[in-house]
Amino acid sequence: MRIGDKPAARLKELGVELRPSVPLSEKTSLGIGGTTDQLLLRKFETIPEVMRLLADEKIPHRFLGGGTNVLIADGELPYVVLHLPTSQPGMRVEGNAAYVDAAADLGGMVTFCAKRDLGGMEGLIGVPGSVGGALRMNAGAYGTQIGSYVREVELYRASTGKLETLRGDDIRFDYRHTSFAPDDVMLRVKLELPSKPFKEILALIKICNEKRRASQPLNQKSAGCIFKNPPGGSAGRMIDELGLKGHRVGDAMVSDRHANFFVNVANASCADMLRLIDEVRERVRVTYGVELENEVIFWKN
Ligand code: EPU
Repeated sequence: MRIGDKPAARLKELGVELRPSVPLSEKTSLGIGGTTDQLLLRKFETIPEVMRLLADEKIPHRFLGGGTNVLIADGELPYVVLHLPTSQPGMRVEGNAAYVDAAADLGGMVTFCAKRDLGGMEGLIGVPGSVGGALRMNAGAYGTQIGSYVREVELYRASTGKLETLRGDDIRFDYRHTSFAPDDVMLRVKLELPSKPFKEILALIKICNEKRRASQPLNQKSAGCIFKNPPGGSAGRMIDELGLKGHRVGDAMVSDRHANFFVNVANASCADMLRLIDEVRERVRVTYGVELENEVIFWKN
């Protein structure tokens, strides 16, 4: 989608940088996604005004974070994408509290806190993506979920058009699911973390990294796990048992390392990936009677 000259001029006044015709395949870890205009927000404070302007001009929009858990359609997209300021996302520690901007890199946050002797989040070290994306999905790995440490979240609430602060107790964090509204935009988080010596945290980080390297296709283009694990089960194990590792639709392939990772081996389209997802879901449904739910978020046009 192209933004017209009039709204573009107004957005510039609000300090928003407009990048025309950006291929989102360059912004996602899957290397999949069509083309649209990208808006880079420079300041949180202007978000309500930017959103009002987009609403007035009837410009559909979506926020893109780290792009590591999203599957975006091919071709010209019928919406623009917004990005939070990412040049130098703020991170600071005060006692056992860490204050982190949503645009910060999740792994970067874990190491920043570790160096200040704050631990607990070791399991999240290899999870790619931004802190905002991790909050929205309640990202987790190796027994850690980010939600356990959240004390406050600053966000833009589309329902009120305002910047608000929510207390951790007022947010529900479930397995890969939270009570945030789909159009809430995470801006900043306050976490409370247990004190732990840096050396101990580092040792745990190393163990998690090794486990991950041994079982996941880290050097290939993927969005991590494609399906959520069903209650008490393992999507990866079921897909593996069905002999589907290496199964392909075009350039979309079930990883031969971890069966719940679907990789883009060269130039997979969104259509390829969607067909692969549907085929595998169907095979699992027929054999196990389990309907797998997507973990990856599909941005339907
Ligand atoms: N397994 C197989 N074959 C495979 C993959 C897994 O038999 O191809 C078996 C493993 O041997 C193990 C079981 O399935 O016995 C579970 O596998 P694993 O330990 O790799 O964990 P997972 O349940 O597949 C979850 C998260 C990952 C997270 C890991 C580590 C989900 C959907 N996935 O994977 O998160 O990194 O645990 O904690 O909850 C993600 O969210 O994108 C993600 C990758």
